[in-house]
Amino acid sequence: MKIGIFGGTFDPVHLGHIWTARFVRDELGLDKLFMVVAADPPHKPDPGRTPASVRYRMLESALKHENGIFASDVELKREGKSFTVDTIAHYKGQYRGAELFLIVGGDMLESFPLWREPQRILSMAKLAAVSRPDEKRDMRAIADDIESRFGGKVILSRFGGPLISSTEVRRRMWSAIPVDTMVPMHTEQYMYTNALYMPPEIIGIRSRLSKILKRKRLNHTMLTACEAVKLAYRHGVDTEKARMAALLHDCIKLPNKELLEYCAEHCYDLTEEEKNNPYLIHSRLGAVLACEEYGVKDPEILQAIKNHTLGRVGMSMLDRIIYVADKIEPSRDFEGVDEIRDIAYNDINRAMLLVMRHSADYTLKSGRAINPSTQAVMDYLADEIASNTEEQNG
Ligand SMILES: [Fe+2]
Ligand SMILES: [Fe+2]
Repeated sequence: MKIGIFGGTFDPVHLGHIWTARFVRDELGLDKLFMVVAADPPHKPDPGRTPASVRYRMLESALKHENGIFASDVELKREGKSFTVDTIAHYKGQYRGAELFLIVGGDMLESFPLWREPQRILSMAKLAAVSRPDEKRDMRAIADDIESRFGGKVILSRFGGPLISSTEVRRRMWSAIPVDTMVPMHTEQYMYTNALYMPPEIIGIRSRLSKILKRKRLNHTMLTACEAVKLAYRHGVDTEKARMAALLHDCIKLPNKELLEYCAEHCYDLTEEEKNNPYLIHSRLGAVLACEEYGVKDPEILQAIKNHTLGRVGMSMLDRIIYVADKIEPSRDFEGVDEIRDIAYNDINRAMLLVMRHSADYTLKSGRAINPSTQAVMDYLADEIASNTEEQNG
């Protein structure tokens, strides 16, 4: 049996890690490859690091569908600082008679002699160093030096997977820039639902929302933010505004009865339409609370929150993005949603019209009439799509 051990902080895990793992699994013919989350690496102390248990859960969700590659929390379960030699010894004990491989990046090889007990590591496992194709150093000379000083075997390979850094992923998360080309889909969703690597203001709002909204609603909110950031980026709209609007769009989305009680308690006047359709309340009230309770003063953000349920004739691009993101975020599941997701990244108006038609069909099927303003918005969008098509056709 061949077992690989690939350690890292994985803060967060990204596609460069995953591709490298798949490459070494296949290159070395590994039966199992364990990606070991470093709890407290002695060579990289950083008090600001994401808790190891969170990094581990993120890695676990990223590897859910990988063949033969597993997240390992063995270093998390050990007391004190974690050393690679102890991790190797753990797997040596668990898989007696197996051939072990310790996978390291080519850039780590030079410092290997400084690790704790390099000789003992090499007595238990082969060292497999993966360098990038453009590596300039003489890796064979470094490997020969290690072999002559400590014994054992160093295997060298080169792999040109995507050049991604966790630092860049964190920077993008902070600044509301999409990361979908850098991390696995499940990692992206995990980072959003848990507000990882985001500014304190965003983390604070999520934490306040978590006290008001049910878990499912909170996750929907965070995933709407994830979708809104990507749509905004694609359509040239301010992504930070999109994130904020998405974050607060359902800030008072309570069950109808609770919502009516809230309005009565806070002397909030309702329109006749809102009294008859209490689900409409949360968008207008949400915009009021976003301003008064959460301190959002930007009128574009407030308007996007207000318009996310019924839409409005003459909606801004931000309004449209929030409207659509709310309906197509990754946890939404209705017939045709995947097609609308694709369309949304090319033509936000057409995506919005399709989403509105879908809800209108649902309304009609459940025996209710379509709201007149919804019909007006649908007509408006259809006109806009028609005139855009005309323009394109010259
Ligand atoms: Fe809503
Ligand atoms: Fe929503």
